[in-house]
Amino acid sequence: MINEKALFCKLNSPVDADKDSPLAKKHVPVITVPPVVKTGEFFDVTIKVGEVEHPSENEHFIQWIEFYIGSVYLGRFDFAPVMTKSQVTIPLKLSHHGLDSTLRAVSRCNLHGLWEGTAQIKSD
Ligand SMILES: [Fe+2]
Repeated sequence: MINEKALFCKLNSPVDADKDSPLAKKHVPVITVPPVVKTGEFFDVTIKVGEVEHPSENEHFIQWIEFYIGSVYLGRFDFAPVMTKSQVTIPLKLSHHGLDSTLRAVSRCNLHGLWEGTAQIKSD
């Protein structure tokens, strides 16, 4: 059983929350990348919050998404409720080999705190 107040005291991820819980399904960022990418060429990364669409209401919405490759910061997107949906597509290029190939997205819900999702990138 998840204590909702404790959600704000940590970065939540499918590892420590039951990944099939309704809360996790609405909050864990889902990252979509091509199966294999070429080093030095742009490809699209799509990040959306939740396998089940998260609400976008004045009282309950996703405030922002940040994304990283490994621990390297790549970008941040802020959202206003009602008129936006917490989903972005951004071109990304891996400029050299040897980078940590884990893409990480962290989102913040005004009621349910920080949530992390990851995806592996395979480059040729
Ligand atoms: Fe939420």
